[in-house]
Amino acid sequence: MKPVLEILEQRISKALRQTTGLAVCPAIVRPTADGRFGDYQVNGIMPAAKQLKTNPRQLAEKVVAQMNISDICQPVEIAGPGFINLRLKPEFLANALLEIYKDKKLGIEQTANSQTVVVDYSGPNIAKQMHVGHLRSTIIGDCVSRMLECLGHNVIRQNHIGDWGTQFGMLIAYFNHFYLNPSIAAHPGQDHYAVLNDSLRISDLEDFYRKAKELYDKDPEFAEESRRVVVKLHSHDLAIQSHWQHIVDESREHYQPIYKRLNVTLTSKDECGESVYADKLPDVVKTLKDKKLAVESVGAICVFPEGFKSKEGEPLPFIVQKSDGAFLYATTDLAAIRFRLQDLHANRVIYVTDARQALHFKMLFAVVKMAGWADESVKLEHVTFGTMLGADGKPFKTRTGGTVKLAELLDEAVERAKAVVDEKNPDLPEQQRQKIAQAVGIGAVKYADYSNNRDSDYIFSFDKMLAMDGNTAPYMQYAYARIRSIERKAEQEGLNIQKELTGICEILLSDPAEQALARQLIQYSQAILNAAADCRPNYLTGYLYELSQAFSRFYNVCPVLQSEGQIRAARLVLCDVTARTIRHGMTELLGIEVPEQM
Ligand code: ARG
Repeated sequence: MKPVLEILEQRISKALRQTTGLAVCPAIVRPTADGRFGDYQVNGIMPAAKQLKTNPRQLAEKVVAQMNISDICQPVEIAGPGFINLRLKPEFLANALLEIYKDKKLGIEQTANSQTVVVDYSGPNIAKQMHVGHLRSTIIGDCVSRMLECLGHNVIRQNHIGDWGTQFGMLIAYFNHFYLNPSIAAHPGQDHYAVLNDSLRISDLEDFYRKAKELYDKDPEFAEESRRVVVKLHSHDLAIQSHWQHIVDESREHYQPIYKRLNVTLTSKDECGESVYADKLPDVVKTLKDKKLAVESVGAICVFPEGFKSKEGEPLPFIVQKSDGAFLYATTDLAAIRFRLQDLHANRVIYVTDARQALHFKMLFAVVKMAGWADESVKLEHVTFGTMLGADGKPFKTRTGGTVKLAELLDEAVERAKAVVDEKNPDLPEQQRQKIAQAVGIGAVKYADYSNNRDSDYIFSFDKMLAMDGNTAPYMQYAYARIRSIERKAEQEGLNIQKELTGICEILLSDPAEQALARQLIQYSQAILNAAADCRPNYLTGYLYELSQAFSRFYNVCPVLQSEGQIRAARLVLCDVTARTIRHGMTELLGIEVPEQM
């Protein structure tokens, strides 16, 4: 179903073009902030009048006479210096609602120009525990991917894991000494690299990494050994590579379950980490040199994209190879983006990382343009986000000042949610309460993140995110469960909703609260479109929250089960579409479960 906003924009723009003779003069139809002035407002009259140096009110009158929207809108009003206010007709709303009711996809419009979109998100670093910083990237990227897919785009998820680099020398050397030594003892004389035991588990990655680093810093012999190992790794020494693989696999065992708990769609198939590009790096540098873009500067190989200056006003280098020959994060990103553009044929590449990497990506995109790897139509985007803060307004830390481990954070969320559920619903069986607590706890953490403007820092507060009122997951989950309970009650009272609504071909929306709810429901497609265009999940949570408020207002004044005939049918349709929209938004787009009962 085409969003009504789009239909209005098209028709009124056409009238505006016909009236003015201007080739480009969009109607600029926007939803009104205040319902008293109608549902939509046309803002394009004044800029057109300005161009033609004519009176905007008179122009508005001519456009109104010319445009043909009487099937959608009530007779229009011209307001202020030259705005046109539009109000949807109840019949139009009723028909649109019925169409959505009958559509499995809730009227979500499939895009006419499907793009291949690469979404790069999560990107945990191997042998380090995932921390809260990765939470935001993981869930924002996931929602963006889900929304784009829902609109009909071809989304390619890329988990650019940090699985390469000099730290692996140290990790492998450490692994080798302290995890395999028992095996050396057991197999005297055998090359200890060859006796890798599959059952060796790194139970605590953080601990493993820290100890390796400690030894590296204090034992020069170990540091030397680590450097030798890196060289072997880079030259594809089989034994070293199998150790590396073991450490990567171990790490995956730590983060894949977290994805699962978070209900994030990333799988190991989406993994395409730094190591994948390792062999391509010399060619990236060579290509840039051949194009005369990369030059030597103080021993290093650098590209100087135009417009980037240091504090001192010097041209800023994008370093692609250090003076010791080593490649960098930037070189890998160049190889990765070239692959995404040239082999995956991406029309749009979205990177989801915190705002501290903003300069890196700006420069990366500039270098890509210089190298001619992307034509004008390709969109390269860095979707940034702010920091998660503790109650003290400082970056979120544990009480003792350590980094907060994601797994522990989620445990606590579920535990606290369980207390809320126990209190609200002591009569449900324990197992069911446990399940609801999972949905509420994990949902609350995700929803709190989504509902904030991603550019801002936000204060992480269990109390706030688990509150039953306000724009929170439990509120939305409760709103959904409440509608389902109305339906269950109806069935208990002997009403067969399914039967009541089968074959329904006309409904009547007479109450303003019914109309307001229908108006919100028919805008779902547009809400997803807006959220996906700007990669802003908070547009979607904002929409869902408004929807549940519109439902509450409707439900307060319009009895459903006590009404009869056509009126009841319309209200049942409103209930059903509201419930399905909330469920779709929460589960399909935000990846948050909504229990049927709470
Ligand atoms: N591993 C990186 C980090 O933890 C994130 C990777 C982001 N993606 C990329 N293509 N650079 O900061």
